Amino acid sequence: MRLKDKVILVTAAGQGIGRASALALAAEGAKVIATDLNGDLLQGLDGISTEVLDVTDAQAINAIAAKVGPLDGLFNCAGVVHNGTLLDIDDKDWDFAFSLNVTAMMRLCRAVMPGMLERASQTGTASILNMSSMASSIKGFANRTAYGASKAAVLGLTKAIAADYVKQGIRCNALCPGTVDTPSLRGRIAASADPVQAEKDFIARQPMGRLATVADIAPMVVYLLSDESRFVSGQAMLVDGGVTI
Ligand SMILES: NC(=O)c1ccc[n+]([C@@H]2O[C@H](COP(=O)([O-])OP(=O)(O)OC[C@H]3O[C@@H](n4cnc5c(N)ncnc54)[C@H](O)[C@@H]3O)[C@@H](O)[C@H]2O)c1
Repeated sequence: MRLKDKVILVTAAGQGIGRASALALAAEGAKVIATDLNGDLLQGLDGISTEVLDVTDAQAINAIAAKVGPLDGLFNCAGVVHNGTLLDIDDKDWDFAFSLNVTAMMRLCRAVMPGMLERASQTGTASILNMSSMASSIKGFANRTAYGASKAAVLGLTKAIAADYVKQGIRCNALCPGTVDTPSLRGRIAASADPVQAEKDFIARQPMGRLATVADIAPMVVYLLSDESRFVSGQAMLVDGGVTI
């Protein structure tokens, strides 16, 4: 019970990394509020409270922050992968990548910060985890311009928050996974011209010879939201199967 009594909100908890993380956090005793754009995907999260939340809706962000009250932890997991080179990007795609991957994250951090500061003043600590990526934010990959730029911005946002609140007990870190087998990855593979080759290519860039599973990522989420990581802040934590060795 490494998270006993901690109140932790997770975005994009309907499937993939967010869902696995919500379940792992709850298994360690956290009172999890699992949120997602798609309410149907939140079914079956037994023992976890759920809320529909579109993180691109600024009013909904303020409303949920008021509803859930002070948090000990926040996992900003929501994000979108945009494929393409510089010449493939139109302004709409670029704006959407930044709106979902960065602006929404900033707004949720800002909305819950007063409650987190209150909580940290009582308990000594609170933790924010922001979803970045290894791909094109830490290591360059082809066809990830808008994605990589927005996920690199997550690292800057994370370090700035970490620096501003370090003396008040708030920690803020970013998570940088390698390629994880999730519904969104399966969708990208299926949408490619040659899905069999696309899957081989994703695996080939992982030196351990396989994709990550969500079970490879969730333990790092638990660690960074627990007090075990109490001396860790402002970091980009890579869980990438050795891609950046
Ligand atoms: N899968 C990977 O290989 C990988 C690698 C590195 C980083 N990431 C990041 O991890 C995060 C989750 O990715 P995943 O692959 O687990 O995704 P996924 O597709 O499996 O799940 C995404 C979830 O986000 C929800 N969502 C979409 N738009 C939303 C919005 N506006 N508000 C709230 N929820 C919304 C969807 O309903 C869905 O439940 C993303 O930020 C992604 O960039 C994924």
